Amino acid sequence: MKTFSMTILALASAMCLLGCSESASYKVIPLPNSIELSENAAPFVINSGTTIVAEGEEMERNANMLAKYIDELTGIEVGVNTSGKPIVLRASLASENKEAYRMSVCADSIVIEGASPAGVFYGMQTLRKSLPATDVSSVEMPAGVIDDAPRFGYRGAHFDVSRHFYTIDEVKTFIDMMALHNLNTFHWHLTDDQGWRIEIKKYPKLIEVGSNRKETVIGRLPGKWDGKPHGGYYTQEQAREVVEYAAERYINVIPEIDMPGHMRAAIASYPQLGCTGKQMDVWTEWGVAEDVLCAGNDSTMAFIKDVLNEIMDIFPSKYIHIGGDECPKVRWKECPKCQARIRAEKITPKGKFSAEDRLQGNVTRFAYDVIKERGRVMIGWDEILESDIPSDAIVTSWRGDDGAVEGANRGNKVILSPNTHLYFDFYQSKDVQYEPFAIGGYIPVEKVYSFEPIPAELTGDKADLVIGAQANLWTEYILDFAQVQYMELPRMAALAEVLWTQPDKKNFDCFKDRIPALFAIYDRLGYNYAKHLADITATYTPVPEKKALSVDFTTLKGREIHYTLDGSEPTEKSAKYEGELFITDNAIVKAASYASGKPSRVLCDTITVNKATFCKAVLNSTPAEGYAFAGAPTFVDGITGTQNYRTGRWVGFVNGDCDVTIDLGAETEFGEVGFNCCVFQCDGVVDASGVEVKVSSDGKEFVAVASETYPEIDRNFEFGSLHHSVKFDTCKARYVNVVVKSTKALPAWHAFSASPAFVFVDEISVD
Ligand code: ACM
Ligand code: ZN
Repeated sequence: MKTFSMTILALASAMCLLGCSESASYKVIPLPNSIELSENAAPFVINSGTTIVAEGEEMERNANMLAKYIDELTGIEVGVNTSGKPIVLRASLASENKEAYRMSVCADSIVIEGASPAGVFYGMQTLRKSLPATDVSSVEMPAGVIDDAPRFGYRGAHFDVSRHFYTIDEVKTFIDMMALHNLNTFHWHLTDDQGWRIEIKKYPKLIEVGSNRKETVIGRLPGKWDGKPHGGYYTQEQAREVVEYAAERYINVIPEIDMPGHMRAAIASYPQLGCTGKQMDVWTEWGVAEDVLCAGNDSTMAFIKDVLNEIMDIFPSKYIHIGGDECPKVRWKECPKCQARIRAEKITPKGKFSAEDRLQGNVTRFAYDVIKERGRVMIGWDEILESDIPSDAIVTSWRGDDGAVEGANRGNKVILSPNTHLYFDFYQSKDVQYEPFAIGGYIPVEKVYSFEPIPAELTGDKADLVIGAQANLWTEYILDFAQVQYMELPRMAALAEVLWTQPDKKNFDCFKDRIPALFAIYDRLGYNYAKHLADITATYTPVPEKKALSVDFTTLKGREIHYTLDGSEPTEKSAKYEGELFITDNAIVKAASYASGKPSRVLCDTITVNKATFCKAVLNSTPAEGYAFAGAPTFVDGITGTQNYRTGRWVGFVNGDCDVTIDLGAETEFGEVGFNCCVFQCDGVVDASGVEVKVSSDGKEFVAVASETYPEIDRNFEFGSLHHSVKFDTCKARYVNVVVKSTKALPAWHAFSASPAFVFVDEISVD
């Protein structure tokens, strides 16, 4: 019997290889803005008899690329300009949006018309993504018309190759990933404190010295180093090769030379570029180096001019990025040359900006003029708004969207890349112990998807100044290209839809239904990607009336969820989740979703029950903006917060304490209260300074039963969770009031000393 069924299976798959046909779906990512299917019309069939007909300039190249795409995904080898039923490519569509395309499908032909060759390319991407990513002998393309155009003209991905170097082939793969997602702007962050990566012929030491660092710090803060040299650079010829490769995919490459800060690698190469003139090494730490270009030195200005001119020789891009972010002024305050420049130019403080802050404006203006002289346009991070910049400079808003609002209000075009939604170097999962180490933060796919590039404050003409958005990938903690792909995918898919699809067509549930087809393409192309969407998302809500925890599991459509509560590994035979589940006792929840026998990663959460768990909890103080999450129920859901304070498993407070009252439901005996604090020192998230416990029988009159104070945070405890418990004489009461005290000011040694500290609190226990 076994042999028989194996034979049938083997036969079926062999037959499929020879003659399987599948149907395409045009509901790809990004979702086309209009898909009109001709319900009863016969489909076009792509098979080895199909030919791609190139009509006009650039179409031959596009045709060859489309043939390669079809072969890569389905194994079908179509012809190019041979005989057979045609897929016609031509740039003949009349549309103001030059990236628009129309794809008309009937039994006899597919015609992809673009408003430009780029428009044709996006039609090709839709066709490509509609194909099944599996070996077949033919694909049925449903008859109909797709009319499509992007919402924004600037659809970007930034890639930092300074902190870690990536080869030309890896950069090209990054560009391929962008093309698959209809992105059209590659922001190449080529220089930073930790490595100079582009050959500049007039300053050869930039690569001889500046492209190599002798070792790299381990972890986030200085203390331990890996002892391994790290280096790499691109010759001008290689950079031109990348520009050409990108252009063939209708992607513009914007080079960034970050100045006047983030220049330590250049100063290591040419010490005279810095204020002190001292020899120093290419930086081996993360963060923001204090040695920056000397703004009072004429040879620094000559350097900027020469470098930008060579950069503009290599990169034909209309836009040139000069960085401008995070430039400390420590050296400038002490430097005789910088101070002389301030006096000579009569630079004075303005508003909250010091004379040194405004000196940066001079450097920015100088770079602007060099770029403008070549007919190009300068872009800078939102710090460029700290001085008077001409209205034809463009602002990349990274510290939230304030820079975009201010920039547009000042008449500048703006690009959104806020660290609230589009920093792809942030974690994408709450379970950071299962993730590659990341810089911090928490930006899951749904958060990216929810991003609206036009800030609510901008309307009318001001909104038109938003030219688009980009995701940033800083690579301090991204050690290889597999991790680059993991951080980008599928967040890049969410970004694609944010930038391409009209907002009324966007819907995250529908996006999730379409993502399995894109995952199949990633698999086929060998891309490493984060699979969290196939994982289970669990929402736990205490239900005081039932003294239970309600468990809500969700996952991608078409996947079944099976779970265990005793810590055993779930299988497809474990209990099936049917939409309702309550937990009343200690449990180790394990759950996985299944499709075609393939499990997702296993979700694992430990529920630990004490006398306060699942009871009613009420907050008497206000959490810090953005850190309230689900509020007081978080403290009594039985689940202890992990190391990441942004996951929703902690509630954060600043400029005030965490004051919470728990109703135990009935008079209860207890003599101990416990709670946890999350510590993430570099963000000013530290331990509590103390705790006070009061109890009450009626919820009105409270008596104090315990109070404790805690010492200043230990400088060596960088991050993690700290448990506190306070014991007192056993008492009997129904209500417990716990006040976890925040620290009023960070210690003197802290980078943000004297600023108020955050305290993040979770799981309050009563025993
Ligand atoms: C930035 O993240 N420093 C632009
Ligand atoms: Zn100086």
